[in-house]
Amino acid sequence: METFGNTQHKIIHGDAVQALTVISDNSVDLIFADPPYNIGKNFNGHKDKWETEEEYLNWCYKWLDLCIQKLKPNGSLYVMTATQFMPFFDIYLRKKLHILSRLVWYYDSSGVQAKKYYGSMYEPILFCVKDKNNYTFNTDNILVEAKTGAKRKLIDYRKTVPTVYNSEKVPGNVWEFPRVRYRMEEYENHPTQKPIALLERIIKASSNENDLVMDPFSGTFTTCFVAKQLGRNSIGIELQEEYVKIGLRRLQLANEFKGEKLQKEVRTFETQKLATVHTLKLFEDSNGKYIHGKH
Ligand SMILES: C[S@@+](CC[C@H](N)C(=O)[O-])C[C@H]1O[C@@H](n2cnc3c(N)ncnc32)[C@H](O)[C@@H]1O
Repeated sequence: METFGNTQHKIIHGDAVQALTVISDNSVDLIFADPPYNIGKNFNGHKDKWETEEEYLNWCYKWLDLCIQKLKPNGSLYVMTATQFMPFFDIYLRKKLHILSRLVWYYDSSGVQAKKYYGSMYEPILFCVKDKNNYTFNTDNILVEAKTGAKRKLIDYRKTVPTVYNSEKVPGNVWEFPRVRYRMEEYENHPTQKPIALLERIIKASSNENDLVMDPFSGTFTTCFVAKQLGRNSIGIELQEEYVKIGLRRLQLANEFKGEKLQKEVRTFETQKLATVHTLKLFEDSNGKYIHGKH
């Protein structure tokens, strides 16, 4: 196990269960846990598949218990897993925490998902707190447009004094955010990268500036990256060195790793664009547009 970073942002390269054991109890304000889902994804050569479902669930119960131990008494836990395992998480966690919301992260997909059953277009997230009378929830920082009031400008005549419907509201429990696609600016080389927008909502709602946010399965370190942007502190744990390198770069904690310069992977369309620019002798103007000849 190796640790990188500074007092505000730490990256632990190692196994989540081992790493969680060394973190102080009752010290973390917000945990976002997005573990392997036991569905056979390839995490840098490591297949995300346990021998049996029981083995997967028993492993999950181990790190879930540790997460609960590390949370402050007013802390919050958001946890994800595959749709087929979430009912087990729910039954396990409701005995230990208060589950306040069962969220659905919904996305559209133009690709064919399934032909003989209904394709999976959502991932479940549980939002749990230790103390339902004392937890952070920054309503004003996550408001979304309420269409009835904002777009249709309807008036509620059932009120004693007729009032225009609110134009903003707290989001409901179905959240639509596009998945991270290859051409998106935030894309990193990882099979299950979560969108910045999803983490922004969670971190804004359930933590304050200078709070400690922890992610035991960091992947591309989206959680820690957003935590940093929002002025929170972070701890990210990740088993794969390849992904730790992404974290070090995204959090600007290092420029190189074991002598290797940390650079974002150039995507195929970027190589093609660069080749065209080179062949046609184009120059980028101050607006980022490619033009013939310098002005
Ligand atoms: C679903 S992905 C997390 C993706 C992440 N939320 C993001 O936005 O990129 C799960 C991650 O857990 C890592 N992982 C698997 N087993 C682990 C373990 N025992 N300890 C720590 N990390 C582990 C995998 O390498 C993978 O990157």
